[in-house]
Amino acid sequence: MRLVLLGPPGAGKGTQANVLSQKYGLLHISTGDLLREAVKNKTPVGQEAKKFMDKGELVPDEIVTQMIIEKFKHSDISPGFILDGFPRTKRQAQILDQALAELNLPLDMVLYFETGEDTILKRLTGRRVCQNCGYNFHIVNIPPKNEGICDYCSGKLYHRQDDKEETIRNRIKVYNEQTRELIDYYQIKGLIKKASGDLEVEALFSILQKIFKETRLI
Ligand code: AP5
Repeated sequence: MRLVLLGPPGAGKGTQANVLSQKYGLLHISTGDLLREAVKNKTPVGQEAKKFMDKGELVPDEIVTQMIIEKFKHSDISPGFILDGFPRTKRQAQILDQALAELNLPLDMVLYFETGEDTILKRLTGRRVCQNCGYNFHIVNIPPKNEGICDYCSGKLYHRQDDKEETIRNRIKVYNEQTRELIDYYQIKGLIKKASGDLEVEALFSILQKIFKETRLI
């Protein structure tokens, strides 16, 4: 399966990508995670990207597409993959189409998680991330067993710099201005399947499985 997860910040793309990648043995590629890793390691890309990420702006297309192309080069993507948070602009989508056409591995589906602003704000202000393994929790919806500690690796949980309300509002604005148009882009290609990002994790996962069955992806 070759999937793109599309939706506003906080739609649950990362959470569903984790569940789907484990269930179906797919490679989970998150540009947000790759960029945060580069920021943590203070690489030149990370230092440049941080300026945009802290404000909730998009990192320039050249940086992000180069990162994805490198990832494709150094990973075995033939058993299938999930792109989480990429593409986010029409330019990125065109470069992705070209790269996948060269590999003869076209996309099977783009899952669009339609999500209300209230849900987004509640989820992101309450999100806590493990600084060691990157697993996402939520202080109300998906709390860790011990406050502030990751259930899986005992790493310390932190509140993302861009999960402050003001920055979240800017990320939503940026999504509406620069990413939303990808729904039409993929609709024209017949790749879009919609599901509600407002649903609970298991309920959304069941809907996705139903979509896969109906379209004979599984
Ligand atoms: P990125 O990390 O991709 O952030 P995002 O797209 O804004 O998405 P989020 O991670 O905030 O949300 P999500 O939909 O994955 O939700 P999640 O599952 O975590 O990007 C960060 C920044 O990097 C960007 O602002 C940009 O600067 C840069 N960047 C990244 N990609 C780029 C690109 N392609 N081009 C340019 N710049 C790029 O869930 C959120 C919370 O809700 C969690 O706490 C979770 O536990 C909880 N939750 C999830 N699902 C549910 C549910 N169904 N019910 C209840 N709670 C839930």
